[in-house]
Amino acid sequence: MQNLKDKSLLKKFSYINGSWHSSESTINVTNPATNEVVATISNAGIDETNLAVAAAKNAFKLWSAKSANERSTLMRNWFNLMMENQDDLGRILTLEQGKPLAEAKGEIAYGAAFIEWFAEEGKRVYGDTIPAPSGDKRIIVIKQPIGVVAAITPWNFPNAMIARKAAAALAAGCTFVVRPDVQTPLSALAMAELAEKAGIPAGVFNVVVGDDAIGIGKVLTEHKDIAKFTFTGSTAVGKLLISQCASTVKKVSMELGGNAPFIVFDDADIDAAVTGALVSKYRNAGQTCVCTNRIFVQKNIVDKFTGKFVAAVKELSLGDGLSDGVSIGPMITEKAANNVQKLIDDSIAQGAIIALGGSNSLGENFLTPTILTNVTNNMPIANNEIFGPVSPIITFKGEDEVLALANDTEYGLAAYFYSRDIGRVWRIAEGLEYGMVGINEGIISNAAAPFGGMKQSGNGREGSKYGLDDYLEIKYLCMGGLDK
Ligand code: SIN
Repeated sequence: MQNLKDKSLLKKFSYINGSWHSSESTINVTNPATNEVVATISNAGIDETNLAVAAAKNAFKLWSAKSANERSTLMRNWFNLMMENQDDLGRILTLEQGKPLAEAKGEIAYGAAFIEWFAEEGKRVYGDTIPAPSGDKRIIVIKQPIGVVAAITPWNFPNAMIARKAAAALAAGCTFVVRPDVQTPLSALAMAELAEKAGIPAGVFNVVVGDDAIGIGKVLTEHKDIAKFTFTGSTAVGKLLISQCASTVKKVSMELGGNAPFIVFDDADIDAAVTGALVSKYRNAGQTCVCTNRIFVQKNIVDKFTGKFVAAVKELSLGDGLSDGVSIGPMITEKAANNVQKLIDDSIAQGAIIALGGSNSLGENFLTPTILTNVTNNMPIANNEIFGPVSPIITFKGEDEVLALANDTEYGLAAYFYSRDIGRVWRIAEGLEYGMVGINEGIISNAAAPFGGMKQSGNGREGSKYGLDDYLEIKYLCMGGLDK
């Protein structure tokens, strides 16, 4: 942290109602590449969470009454500050999360892009007029901010997952309380510092950092003054949080787990497919819910694809994300690395073969980029969300077979396929039961596009013009007595 240009970005307290709150107990934030403590921060709990909700409720009156233009100007300031501080924010992110510095800076730009996007989109919250069933009436539809929004966000994108939710909420006129993952709180607190510098009023954006996940989670899901709850994380935790939200009938949006198929047909541009698989699988060391989880390759091209893919993955350089030339960092914890290693070992026991990697070469948190062949769809490496740098390759013969295999999962977040046959492109795109489909493309996430899943991968959409809907109420006004 010594190398930060602006040391004021390193915050150690929760940010509530425009001020920094210390607590007696503390949490250590560690660097996943070295296990060294990079910061010790205050450990907030239920009381601080209640304070943050009260602050957000109070600030809602003022923030929702501002014009969309006024909110947009402040959000644009926030975007500018994030981009001006991209180097420092990237460095903080790498130190707490582990991803390579270039990728971390990319995440800052990705997160900031949501703030920029929604700063503009907030000006386009249009209502409607509807022809009434009788001449003495008029039907008008207006959209209003839903109220206080609570969010719980994950460690894999400590900046962008907050930005994607907060930007839509603030643009719609809502106020926001977030509990970032305690493994990666520093990015969230740096965002709060910049929100304050940008002029976002006290109480509009609050960050509560605490390790009492259950207690804080209960406040954020059950508090009567919170109108909407949004979560990015695992499907198992998402289900629990949805059930907690039921007691106050909160609107929820959930970005949950995935098991993305990546299908390569024999008419594909194989080099393009190799590049697509590389980026969609090994981004963030495979710790992304849209990461490729299963690679399906048509049988007659499997040797050609696998040979080129192994050669490309061999070029990845594993190491500390702050070191030059590193393209893939550590897993978030040793436990996470061990979980992935177990999926590899259990699948090998069932017949999978290591084509590359398969071992833990640099120490406890590091997993070598791995490719497994001879995999079937029911092996542990294929029917679990891997969340690590492992590519299982499964062969198939025809379209119907691969569609059935690809859809044979409870998840429905992202899918990818490579083909140059226009008829096949439409058949597969329409047949995949996934909320997002990359067609001849391995990177699909951006602020202009609707991010979200089907089935048990969640509900609601983030980013894009659809991303505001979750933060707005539709109100119908019926104007009567208009007869002369
Ligand atoms: C996620 O892993 O939750 C988000 C990934 C993305 O936005 O691309």
